[in-house]
Amino acid sequence: MSEIAHTHTAAHVRHGSNIGQPLTRREGVLKVTGAARYAADHHPPGMLYAVLAVSSIARGRVVSLDVQAAKSHAGVVEVITPANRPALAQDPDEKTNPFMFRLDVLQNDRVRYANQPIAVVVAETLEAATEGAALLSPRYEIEPARVELDATESFVPPGVGVGNPAEVHRGDVEAGLAGAAKQIEATYETSPQYHNAMEPHAIVAAWDGDTLSIDTPSQGLAMAQGRIAGLFGISPDKIHIRSPFLGGGFGSKGLISGPQVLGIIAARMVGKPVKLVLRREQMYGPVGHRAPTRQTLRLGSDKEGKLTALAHRTKTTSSTFDDFFEPASDASHTLYASPAIATSHEAVRVDTGTPLFMRAPGEATGSIALESAIDEMAHACGIDPLAFRLKNYAEVEPISGKPFSSKALRDCYTRGAARFGWEGRPLAPRRMRDRDGLLVGWGVGTATFPALMFQAQAKAVLRRDGSGVMEIGAHDMGQGAWTALAQIAADGLGLDIDQIEFRSGSSDLPDAGIAGGSAHTATAGMAIHTAGADVVARLADLATKDTSSPLFGAGNTGVIARDGRLYRRDDESRSESYSDILGRAGLAEITGQGQSAADPAAQLAYAMHAHGAVFAEVKVDPDLGQMRVTRVVGAFAAGRIINPRMVQSQLCGGMIWGVSFALHEQAIMDPRSGRPMNPNLAEYHIPVNADVPSIEAITVEERDPHVNALGIKGVGEIGITGTAGAVANAVWHATGVRVRKFPITLDRLVEPQA
Ligand code: MOS
Repeated sequence: MSEIAHTHTAAHVRHGSNIGQPLTRREGVLKVTGAARYAADHHPPGMLYAVLAVSSIARGRVVSLDVQAAKSHAGVVEVITPANRPALAQDPDEKTNPFMFRLDVLQNDRVRYANQPIAVVVAETLEAATEGAALLSPRYEIEPARVELDATESFVPPGVGVGNPAEVHRGDVEAGLAGAAKQIEATYETSPQYHNAMEPHAIVAAWDGDTLSIDTPSQGLAMAQGRIAGLFGISPDKIHIRSPFLGGGFGSKGLISGPQVLGIIAARMVGKPVKLVLRREQMYGPVGHRAPTRQTLRLGSDKEGKLTALAHRTKTTSSTFDDFFEPASDASHTLYASPAIATSHEAVRVDTGTPLFMRAPGEATGSIALESAIDEMAHACGIDPLAFRLKNYAEVEPISGKPFSSKALRDCYTRGAARFGWEGRPLAPRRMRDRDGLLVGWGVGTATFPALMFQAQAKAVLRRDGSGVMEIGAHDMGQGAWTALAQIAADGLGLDIDQIEFRSGSSDLPDAGIAGGSAHTATAGMAIHTAGADVVARLADLATKDTSSPLFGAGNTGVIARDGRLYRRDDESRSESYSDILGRAGLAEITGQGQSAADPAAQLAYAMHAHGAVFAEVKVDPDLGQMRVTRVVGAFAAGRIINPRMVQSQLCGGMIWGVSFALHEQAIMDPRSGRPMNPNLAEYHIPVNADVPSIEAITVEERDPHVNALGIKGVGEIGITGTAGAVANAVWHATGVRVRKFPITLDRLVEPQA
């Protein structure tokens, strides 16, 4: 085969000029003009509307539904309940791998959480379906709901996150604590959070015999296809899912959810296309959430302020029927170089939907506690919290003992601090005021997120007319995949971005893995890159073996691709266009394939993470406790930046999540009914413009040759991780009050702390 197919080292990267450019979103005009069609914008002919009826209790049984009343309502076509729901090929409670989650699709009358689907009403109009669902008037047999962290007996979960051990330790923590000059122990609590993507989960499903056509937002097209195929007993290639645009996902669209499956069931039952869109409050149950945590940190330090021990214990919740455990303690594995570290988790089962991956699962939750505890320790030692971090940050990943694949954290601390103006920060709290008498505080937090890669494939085509095509079933949740991946594609093909067609967002294209774990650009990007290398290598083969080509005899590795031509590396005056090469060979086009996966040897040798440091300023009204974040500066090292404009937007978005985690977001559960009491964007607070007046992301240049040949790390989730802690620490610095329950609301600030 071709000599240079599937290159894996940076030296062989044949770069053009698209990567690194701050291009604007390629789909931006479509989005701002309303021309971009999201799932719910589809109206195939004859389409009916499905509306869910959801449970208003958290635990018990549905004893009656007034199906007759719903059915006799004008326009109602069908009412689906456990009594008439068609059988599925696979039990929705079956679980064959840790990425498979149990679904509620009307399998029986049991209610396992509030807002669980209990019926589906299909009608000719949305209004009729909504009214029909209201007429069902369910009656329940109610059992007491258990939704709080201490509601049931705790146990050690079999694993946390995706297959991480629940308990890990290195060194002797108790000895480290016993021998410490200073010790602290503090317990932090985080609230349940819901993903709340702007676009609700929506599906338009249409059956044609046993072929299924779906418009629905998905962060993982091939996985969704496989899951649906299993449930309906059809082959995955009979299912076509289109998901060109998502109005956010944040983890809740990573796997197909129960309500989406109910839309497909409804379409099959009525024999017509069906649309089902969740109402905002219906997203507070069946589509995942971030579970609450209670985290206890114990830290020891010697006289010089070097950590001697770090223990991080998390208690969290999962549902009564499935396993997802927020891996919050794992945040302590990578950041601080304590000679002894112990992390552990315990969990309780409660009557909520199953928690799920949500926006830096584990890192976000764990780092707000860890960064607060580090801050408490620094001040207990009388050391500036930035200086304390500079003394204690890990040069080698402490828990695995592996060296980091690159080391840019120190630069993040120093660049961020300089830009923020950290110097001169008084050590003691409550020492700074602005002109209006508001208390001012400055806080710092360290950001970290693993540089992950999953598996993906791509297909590349070069055409005789000089254009190219790249195909990959990738996912643009709003992060800019349409743009960044097309930039990688153009460089991989040796063409300008305007000369290529980038096909994406559809399940009939090669599997792009999952857009999650901040790994999509690396994973899909490397598949695209290798597909480009493959097709260019095939083209180079044609040219360099053809006596009539100016490239004859150059050898495959002796040519580079740029601007639609192949050039001899040693003599760029000798070149030939793609069109001429294909034309002489009598080919209309030439095709290449690519795939990507993490390099197991590199994984074994290195710990791979993106890093950052975030600095925050808050102002607090000394009388009323009102808090406002006035400035946030984050410095991040995240490998090669494909598109600086998209990366800025991702990092700033992440930092706003961090502000949100620290000060705004919480689902408030009613312990009596087990229902979320604020399932709407009026009462589930997220930051608006006025909550974050100035936010700035600096990217620190980093060449990491080990993560992948392009040196790409993720930027999607890291911003949340340092920011939440930085804001919390700034609130303490402004007020002298350490609130250990998140979000920090003003009642918690003005109440005396336990
Ligand atoms: Mo994410 S929580 O990796 O979509």
